[in-house]
Amino acid sequence: MEYSFPQYLLAKQSVDDRALNKDVLQALRLHLSPSPLRVIELGAGIGTMLTRLLRWDILPPTATYILLDQMPENIAHAHQWLPLWAGQNGWQAQPTPQGIHLQRGEQSVQVELIQADLFDYIPQKPQPAHLLIAHAVLDLLPMPQSLPPLLSLLQPGGLAWLTINFDGVTTLEPTLHPELDSRIESLYHLSMDKRPSGGDSQSGRHLFGHLKQAKAPILAAGASDWVVYPYNGEYPAQEAYFLHFILHFFEESLTRHPSLDPHAFAHWLQERHAQIDRAELVYIAHQMDFLVGAPT
Ligand SMILES: C[S@@+](CC[C@H](N)C(=O)[O-])C[C@H]1O[C@@H](n2cnc3c(N)ncnc32)[C@H](O)[C@@H]1O
Repeated sequence: MEYSFPQYLLAKQSVDDRALNKDVLQALRLHLSPSPLRVIELGAGIGTMLTRLLRWDILPPTATYILLDQMPENIAHAHQWLPLWAGQNGWQAQPTPQGIHLQRGEQSVQVELIQADLFDYIPQKPQPAHLLIAHAVLDLLPMPQSLPPLLSLLQPGGLAWLTINFDGVTTLEPTLHPELDSRIESLYHLSMDKRPSGGDSQSGRHLFGHLKQAKAPILAAGASDWVVYPYNGEYPAQEAYFLHFILHFFEESLTRHPSLDPHAFAHWLQERHAQIDRAELVYIAHQMDFLVGAPT
């Protein structure tokens, strides 16, 4: 199987659609400023949160959307994919020097595509945003020290919607080998805690304290678990690919781990991939969403 990160982000869309905490989303709708709205999304991948906000009719009639990611592959994919998505969903897309302009009737979104490390972007002091989004990103960053710079991107009275923060539980069903299953799960979580670039396998629960320390009031919080299961004998949309990719993350993180027998691990991966092919595997990852105000 070919593993492509942009394809994984595409396949993740329907899983995230179900997972996003709808009470937190409702709070976002209630608190969101009217037009013109300025949004900055950090670690935005290929732009699937932008298209979700358009599909779910969350953006006001006029918006500027800064879509930033460090991976050149993601930003290149966004340049191609966003106009395609627009064409298939009733939007007109025009290339602009900074990115893409999307228009549908009276609704207009000026999208700026930026390939950069967010820690290089923040000191450039961009115009502050009404809404900051970090979706499936905060659990990859050094915490708590990343929060003050991130939140400095907000205008006074602005909002940060911080979603899909992993929180320490991975479940794969049915069980294969109880002892090996749980060893692999703990080593996988440990590998998140030991990434040189930062990361926390319990970022969801820890954000309550980190946000308090950063003086960012929590307006809403709730679970946003990924729950992937076969329906009528098959996985919806591209969720089988999503599951294979999750196993690929396990493989990348744990191959040659000194506490794992390489043959047993390779066999475990093979058996788990086979469970996906037979539409048997159920995958649950516990995560948390937050809506917070700008630091007071
Ligand atoms: C799990 S992916 C999520 C992507 C997107 N938010 C989505 O859910 O489709 C995490 C993203 O954060 C980006 N990222 C991680 N650290 C970053 C940094 N320091 N600066 C900019 N982007 C970063 C990665 O390149 C990756 O695309």
